[in-house]
Amino acid sequence: MSQLTDSSKQNAAKAALQFLDNLPDDVIIGIGTGSTTNAFIHLLKDYRGKIGGAVATSSGTKAELQKVGIPCVELNSVTELPIYIDGADEVDPHFNLIKGGGGALTQEKLVAHVAKKFICIVDEKKVVDCLGSFPLPIEVLPMARSLVARELVKLGGTPKYREHFTTDNGNIILDVSGLKIAEPLKLEQAINQIPGVICNGIFALNRAHVLVIGNADSADIKTR
Ligand code: 5RP
Repeated sequence: MSQLTDSSKQNAAKAALQFLDNLPDDVIIGIGTGSTTNAFIHLLKDYRGKIGGAVATSSGTKAELQKVGIPCVELNSVTELPIYIDGADEVDPHFNLIKGGGGALTQEKLVAHVAKKFICIVDEKKVVDCLGSFPLPIEVLPMARSLVARELVKLGGTPKYREHFTTDNGNIILDVSGLKIAEPLKLEQAINQIPGVICNGIFALNRAHVLVIGNADSADIKTR
């Protein structure tokens, strides 16, 4: 974890620990990617006896889990996860999210899908009225880059190729600005229809169940 992780992210991570309290011993949980999640992983060093393992959403997260001695478990060997803890780039009032700033959106969406409870930990700067100021990350098959970019322009966006970046799945990312995402579910489904799109960073179908919003002094918890 970066020593520079700000106190709002740290406070969100600390407040999320309470969701481990009622879980059985040796539980397997889902763990996302990013600096807020890394702050949470760092705190798991005191929960080694409680947590049997974690399904990680990126190679970076696997490395962080290894540092605190939490074993990684493959997604294929679990049918359900009681909780999934992850950050986000934007959060709207209906618990819809933009994710993928770190490029791990596809594995994050898979793990969110099998989790009974998605607990999203963010600093207060991530909370917005309407998604879309943060450029929407889209994971795309490399050979479909131009095709997908043209289709995204038709949807009103301005796609930008994320340079010098390959996802853990061997694909590229287009970051799409200019989208005012008033209907996240509709847009998520529309983008999923474009051939060559592996995954888009709108999490509406798999929106959060709980938001833990950190500020400089503490954290607020909202449940839907
Ligand atoms: C990675 C993500 C992250 O959750 C998102 O980018 C937030 O990161 P951070 O906690 O560093 O602000 O979606 O793909």
